[in-house]
Amino acid sequence: MYNVLFVCLGNICRSPMAEMIFEDMIRRRKAGSFIRCESRATSTEEYGHEMYPKAIETLQRHGIPVERNVVTMVKREDYDKYTYIVCMDKANYYDLISIFRGDPEKKVHLLMEFAGRKEEIEDPWYTGRFEEVYQQIVEGCEGLFRVIAFTNWQKITKNN
Ligand code: 4NP
Repeated sequence: MYNVLFVCLGNICRSPMAEMIFEDMIRRRKAGSFIRCESRATSTEEYGHEMYPKAIETLQRHGIPVERNVVTMVKREDYDKYTYIVCMDKANYYDLISIFRGDPEKKVHLLMEFAGRKEEIEDPWYTGRFEEVYQQIVEGCEGLFRVIAFTNWQKITKNN
């Protein structure tokens, strides 16, 4: 089983968007028997809150099903539970390295690495650029799916 954890600062915009976009890819490609994903926050700022309405609207406009997501924090123990820990910007990355006290198994990645670019996904909470963020996340998630699928192509072709 591949367990993917998406992480951002607040867990109300970027990481739940990534979670639901990736969930949708997993569902459409019938890969649910070997890929799971969740999302978490590095900060306590939005703890217990729901997703930001503009993030929900953006997903719905693109036909992505939105499930309820209440903010939860990333914890040190999460390091062992996930195969890939995927964050949005360099600040998230350094926060994660600090929470996990390092990254001995090289599990922590920026999402856009999987699209082949050393690029951050800026926080739409501050920029308001939800559509641009959506497009970036789709590109990153497609790349991440390809990386996982490449090592599991037999299971995927069998399921489809
Ligand atoms: P996110 O955006 O990290 O993409 O969920 C944020 C939303 C709210 C806050 C920070 C980031 N905040 O500090 O309130």
